[in-house]
Amino acid sequence: MRIGLTAAAATLAALTACDDTFNYNKEHGGSVVSGDTYCDVQTVFESSCFTCHSAAANIAELDLETDAHAEIVDQSSAGGGTLVVPGDRSSSVLYLKAAGEAPSGEGGIMPPGPGLDATSLETLGAWIDGGATTDCDGSSGGDDTGSADDTGSTDDSGPAGPTPDWCWVQTMHADRCFSCHDAARNGYSGGGFDLETDPYGALVNATSSEMYCTDEVLVSPGSTADSLYFQQLDRTLGDCGEPMPERAERLPQEELDAIAGWINAGATQDCP
Ligand code: HEC
Ligand code: HEC
Repeated sequence: MRIGLTAAAATLAALTACDDTFNYNKEHGGSVVSGDTYCDVQTVFESSCFTCHSAAANIAELDLETDAHAEIVDQSSAGGGTLVVPGDRSSSVLYLKAAGEAPSGEGGIMPPGPGLDATSLETLGAWIDGGATTDCDGSSGGDDTGSADDTGSTDDSGPAGPTPDWCWVQTMHADRCFSCHDAARNGYSGGGFDLETDPYGALVNATSSEMYCTDEVLVSPGSTADSLYFQQLDRTLGDCGEPMPERAERLPQEELDAIAGWINAGATQDCP
C-alpha cells in the first residue's frame, strides 16, 4: 500500500491557490504531496504548517519541525484528545483539524482559513491509518525518534525574540492570553472573547463588546492610538476596557514595541 512519491505531483500543483494571506514555505510553494510515508507527511508539514508550527514559530506549542513524530503520535491535544492515534485517522485530532472537522473544544481548521488540500490530507490520513510509523520508504527506518522527552516544552519565552508580525503576535496570545481567552474558556463570564478560533477576525477591525464601548475598534490597522486592544496591553486606557492580561504585569516593553510595530505597519496576516 505504500505508494512511492510521485515526482509529478510535487511539481504539478505548485500552482494551487496559495492564499496570499499566508506566506507558505517558498521551497514547496504550498504544493500538493502524495504518498503515505513519514517523509511524505513531513513534506506536507513543511509545505503547509511550518509558518506557524516550526521550532521558531511554535504556535499552540506545536513544533512540527524538530521531531514531528514524537511531537504528535500518542500525544494529547490542547482540548484533551489525542493528536495522532496510530491506525485511526478518525480519532486523530491533528487529522480532524486538517480536514476541517475539529471536535468541539479542539480549535479550528488547519491551516486556518483554507484547510489542507485534499491530496495532502489523504497523505496524512493514509499515513495514520497505516500505523503512523517513521518509515520513509521500506528501507532504513533507522530513525531514532526514540524518546525525546518533550512532554511539551514549557519554555514560555520562545527561541526567537518578539517580531512585529502576525505569527509572533499569535504566539504571544497562546503564551499569555489563552489561559482566559482560548476557545474553551472564551473569557469566562458571560461576554466571552475567543482569541483562538479566529483570532485575526476577533481583533482586526472588530469592535469591543463591552457595554457603552461598542464604537471602540480593538485593532485599527495603522494606528495604535485607535486600537483599544493596544491600550489595554499598554495600559493607557480611557473610559473603555480593562488592562490585559488581567491580573498580570504589563507586557515587557519589547513585546509592546513588536505589537505596535505590527499594528502600525497595517496589522496584516503576513508572516516572515
Ligand atoms: C497561520 C498559522 C497556522 C498554520 C499555517 C497552521 N496552524 Fe495549526 N494552529 C494555529 C493556531 C493559531 C492554533 C491554535 C488554535 C486552534 O487550535 O485552532 C493551531 C493549533 C493546531 C493544533 C492543535 C494543537 C493542540 O495541541 O491541540 C494542531 C494539531 C495543528 N494546529 C495542526 C496544524 C497542521 C497539521 C497544520 C498544517 C497542515 C497547521 N496546523 C497549520 C495556527 C496555524
Ligand atoms: C486571567 C484572565 C485573563 C487573561 C490572562 C487575559 N484576559 Fe483579556 N479579558 C479577561 C476578562 C475577564 C475580560 C472581560 C470579559 C470578557 O470579555 O470575557 C477580558 C477582555 C479582553 C478584551 C476585550 C474584549 C472586548 O470585547 O472588549 C480584550 C481585547 C482582551 N481581553 C485581550 C487580552 C489579551 C490580548 C490578553 C493576553 C495578552 C488577555 N486578554 C489576557 C480576562 C483575561
